[in-house]
Amino acid sequence: MKTKIINTPDLKKAASRSKRETTFKMASELNKKEAQGLLVGKKYYIRTYGCQANVRDEETMRGLLENIGMIQNDKPEGADVIIINTCAVRENAEDKVYGEIGNLKILRKKNKKLVLSICGCMVEQPEILNRLMTTFPEVNLFFGTHEIDQLYDLLYQALTKEERIVAIESKAGEVIEGLPSARNNHYKAYVDIIYGCNKFCTYCIVPYTRGQERSRHFDDILKECQALIDAGYQEITLLGQNVNAYGKDLDEGKDFADLMEAVAKLGIPRLRFTTSHPWDFSSKMIDVIAKYPNICKFIHLPVQSGNDEILKIMGRRYTRERYLNLVKEMREKIPGLSLSTDIIVGFPNETEEQFMDTVSLVDIVKYEAAFTFIYSPRKGTPAARMEDNVTYEEKVKRFKLLVKHLEKHIEEHSNSLLGKVVDILVDGPSKTDPNMLSGYTDENKLVHFKGDASLIGTITKVKIVESHTYSMIGELYHG
Ligand code: SAH
Ligand code: SF4
Ligand code: F3S
Repeated sequence: MKTKIINTPDLKKAASRSKRETTFKMASELNKKEAQGLLVGKKYYIRTYGCQANVRDEETMRGLLENIGMIQNDKPEGADVIIINTCAVRENAEDKVYGEIGNLKILRKKNKKLVLSICGCMVEQPEILNRLMTTFPEVNLFFGTHEIDQLYDLLYQALTKEERIVAIESKAGEVIEGLPSARNNHYKAYVDIIYGCNKFCTYCIVPYTRGQERSRHFDDILKECQALIDAGYQEITLLGQNVNAYGKDLDEGKDFADLMEAVAKLGIPRLRFTTSHPWDFSSKMIDVIAKYPNICKFIHLPVQSGNDEILKIMGRRYTRERYLNLVKEMREKIPGLSLSTDIIVGFPNETEEQFMDTVSLVDIVKYEAAFTFIYSPRKGTPAARMEDNVTYEEKVKRFKLLVKHLEKHIEEHSNSLLGKVVDILVDGPSKTDPNMLSGYTDENKLVHFKGDASLIGTITKVKIVESHTYSMIGELYHG
């Protein structure tokens, strides 16, 4: 099969951040009718890896496909269009994709009309794209994070040309409005507020795969939130790689605190946001969170390391002291606040002593939740070019010690909730026990309890009767 290259990725272009103003565009309808003619009534399957940005992209793709009459299939077998939406943040995220495509390629051998497609962050990297293209000749469509709005045209080409299509343009990116959306959940919604990332932490691939920071217009976001409230949504999470940067590229005189306040005032029962960078977390933001009862008292505040030298080489723009001062201000102003974090263990040449600074920071902050990762070199990033004298065994040892410390604090926090009555937004049957329901507290604690299915999608009072490290058991409270 020949290959039609529309665009291929280029890390240098992906890293360019030349102009500050954001370009706005409406969704492309190129070949929509033609694609519809070929795909109406047919089935699609999308598998998404990675962060909420990818989950939101999946919802947009589902919206596009359902708008032309396609039907979701819950497994790849039997689907006419398969899309694997990938993540490149760590090597283990990528390995899963190689495994999955390895299993799917047989389907394309059986059905020559199948569109087998890979999109998302992995294909934004030239070397990975090359490896995928050579390893999997069965994959006949590759497209990047900036090409989602062109899905109709890409599918039409993949279906009508005897060629594999490659459309991945590395660029700063636009804000595309007017795209449909089929949301995965009817009570909880993600709303993109800012795309891309300009921080270029030295270990991270995201700024290369997602382009420049670009904010949506204030009014467009409010309109989307209002529509969700009108549709009965109970929870909105404002999304961005760094939500604090919201508005900096626009001329609207509005920042993230203004946006959060405006959405809170619309009256959504629960408002969350993720992710916020400790570097530009303003006091104004803390005050807004403290002021509005419907803004959840939960902040994900990735620290990455507790050592100043490592933070500096990571390009994180804050010191241990500034981070701890920020936490102090948050805890003082926001009673009952839960903090969670991300930590990278084994950054190149991290010494035992530097690592112990991270452990001591964890013991000071006493996070209520945390995600811990072993450093994974990402080709094209500055950290990947650094020599590393720490063995993998040593990294695993540190990782285990850190998790022990984190778990102690998480457990203590969970125990402190015993006997308390909390509000749960009920998600559905519990994944571990289908006879139970489960949902999250305002502070993002997972609670399982016995209750009627009619409670799903409502905010319900539950009394905590049992506490485990990562979840709790509750009883419906009728007091
Ligand atoms: N924009 C968000 C999310 C970034 S990716 C943020 O800044 O917090 C989520 C987490 O993955 C990061 O916080 C970091 O802890 C981790 N991560 C990113 N690159 C990594 C790498 N190369 N190796 C290991 N962990 C990494
Ligand atoms: Fe990656 Fe840093 Fe941007 Fe987060 S802020 S996405 S860790 S570069
Ligand atoms: Fe992964 Fe891309 Fe998100 S690399 S973490 S899916 S932005």
